[in-house]
Amino acid sequence: MNSIQGKILIAGATGYLGRHVLAELKSRNLSAVALVRTASQAKSLEDEGFEARIGQVTSPDTLRDVFEGVEVVFSSIGITRQKDGLTYDDVDYQGNLNLLRAAKAVGVRKFGYTSVYRGDGFRHVKIIDAKERFVDALRAEAIESCVVRPTGFFSDMADFFSMAKQGRVFLFGNGEAKLNPIAGEDLAKVCVDSLFDNSLEVNVGGPQTYTQNDIARLAFKVLGTRPVITHIPMRVAKFLLGFSKLFVKQTDYGPIEMYMTVSDHSMAAPEYGIRTLEDHFLSIKNDAEK
Ligand SMILES: NC(=O)c1ccc[n+]([C@@H]2O[C@H](COP(=O)([O-])OP(=O)(O)OC[C@H]3O[C@@H](n4cnc5c(N)ncnc54)[C@H](OP(=O)(O)O)[C@@H]3O)[C@@H](O)[C@H]2O)c1
Repeated sequence: MNSIQGKILIAGATGYLGRHVLAELKSRNLSAVALVRTASQAKSLEDEGFEARIGQVTSPDTLRDVFEGVEVVFSSIGITRQKDGLTYDDVDYQGNLNLLRAAKAVGVRKFGYTSVYRGDGFRHVKIIDAKERFVDALRAEAIESCVVRPTGFFSDMADFFSMAKQGRVFLFGNGEAKLNPIAGEDLAKVCVDSLFDNSLEVNVGGPQTYTQNDIARLAFKVLGTRPVITHIPMRVAKFLLGFSKLFVKQTDYGPIEMYMTVSDHSMAAPEYGIRTLEDHFLSIKNDAEK
């Protein structure tokens, strides 16, 4: 295991995974600094006791001063629900590339990045293509690197829960595709470990593997309601997606394209962690009842 003497810059620190990575670094007494895009984001992280620096990965000039004392960068920057009018190519690919080049120019030793489990096989999906082209660029640079490849995050499984709450879960295909979603806390441990070891790539999912039907049923079980699941045939879903691509912005159809892809393939990655999806659903339910 290598040691890290300097700071670890977390890009994407305001997001689900990045926040957990920051917390994990703090719990290990490691020196972390968050890269954020606005003064209010910086203030809110500083109020929680984190150091934050402001820079826009989409404007390379703003990155010059963010690396002082930084030895390692970890990025979980990517468009998920952001509606900034930018494309996956602008942010997931070019934004991360700008960050990588700026980091390398000032002698940062290592760059860690989050892509997607089995991403190399899903390059026909816009969001994944942008990420995998960045992975290619990262590998081509003379810098130490590690790519973490997680399955779905617990944060995304909330969509199953909200559908169940409304009485019906819609699934693409027969719902038998496997998936082992992972909690941000568990994944953050893997991400931080990856900065210290020599692995080029880490595939990881949560501790329990389900089918999508199982996840839908679990949501109804936690709610105490009768499971109602509607399966949208994959050929119908693919036709509708193809049609919507003619009219809808990439970042609007992107999450559906991604969800359809994982509904059509096994996303069962090596199992890791201790947090269960059932407890996650229970905590969403309890929070809503407060
Ligand atoms: N969710 C999943 O199931 C899953 C599975 C595998 C991989 N991944 C990937 O893992 C990564 C992290 O996911 P997450 O759930 O933590 O996402 P998230 O909560 O949306 O966080 C994304 C981060 O990227 C930043 N970002 C987005 N657009 C930006 C832009 N134009 N300029 C600068 N920063 C920008 C966000 O900053 P702001 O807060 O300022 O918007 C945020 O810090 C993503 O790349 C995602 O695609 C996700």
